[in-house]
Amino acid sequence: MAETLTTVRAPLELREACNLARKSGKIAFVPTMGALHEGHLSLVRAARTRADFVVASIFVNPTQFGPNEDFARYPRDIAGDTKKLASAGANLLFAPDASVMYPAGEETRVRVGALGEHLCGPFRPGHFEGVATIVAKLFGLVGESVAIFGRKDYQQLKILQRIAVDLFMPVEVVGMPIVREADGLAMSSRNAYLAPADRDRARGLSLGLSHAWRAFEKGERDAEPIKNLALAEVIQVADRIDYVSLVDADSLQPITEKIGARALLAIACHVGKTRLIDNVVLGEDPDPRASMDARGAEG
Ligand code: PAJ
Repeated sequence: MAETLTTVRAPLELREACNLARKSGKIAFVPTMGALHEGHLSLVRAARTRADFVVASIFVNPTQFGPNEDFARYPRDIAGDTKKLASAGANLLFAPDASVMYPAGEETRVRVGALGEHLCGPFRPGHFEGVATIVAKLFGLVGESVAIFGRKDYQQLKILQRIAVDLFMPVEVVGMPIVREADGLAMSSRNAYLAPADRDRARGLSLGLSHAWRAFEKGERDAEPIKNLALAEVIQVADRIDYVSLVDADSLQPITEKIGARALLAIACHVGKTRLIDNVVLGEDPDPRASMDARGAEG
């Protein structure tokens, strides 16, 4: 792609560039923490189809990492990322330092409600507050736009959709399908941590989800057998399981008996030293590409 990518590091430069671009068209925004892979780039390409000007951000946000999490060792590759963003068609990259996103005296935090109660919420205290806060700051700078997120982080997506509505932000928050490796593993910057033996085992997550998905497609509606199909695979490969949960796909509240129209089956577990998440939506989905077909899940 011949277009050029400009990088800005100051918040007000981002605001000005967006205000200028908005005069001649729509803006789409793709926030990331970098170490970009095809999953991120699929969001940039989707952004291209929806807008005239595509803004991406790269910021490893300290407030969303717990004290024992991987903030310090999170992969960083700004030079490589810049090239990837340019070829995927981004126009502007915002890559700020932590000191400008969290300057001295800064203290406001965005509190998340019931959508943060289950799934990753209890296992990562403060995580969604950190995500909500940084994304609210970014939305405040970018302004009127469509913001594109991946369903890989389904709970994050739901929380951010809620925040944009609740805080009257002029941002439409859109979710895109999970991009997977050939064997089904959901792409993630953290996959780089996986030792080869762990990488093989990591396939168990998507395999479990695909077994459950297939049972659902054949008519199974009871929560327990569906969850157990996923759990059976995860148990074999995980060193520690945070959860294998079935929740309502909109409220994210647990489903204990029968699955209604739409459910989310979600997994978080540790393989070696790496925490992995994955999920599938069971039931009617507004986006048919999001469903887990046999190829997507099992390659
Ligand atoms: P990060 O993990 O870098 O992810 C950035 C975006 O890419 C998120 O919307 C995420 O859901 C999406 N993504 C990651 N892997 C994907 C995959 N395999 N397929 C499709 N989309 C995928 O999520 C964050 O950063 C941060 O929490 C952030 C929102 C930037 C706030 O700091």
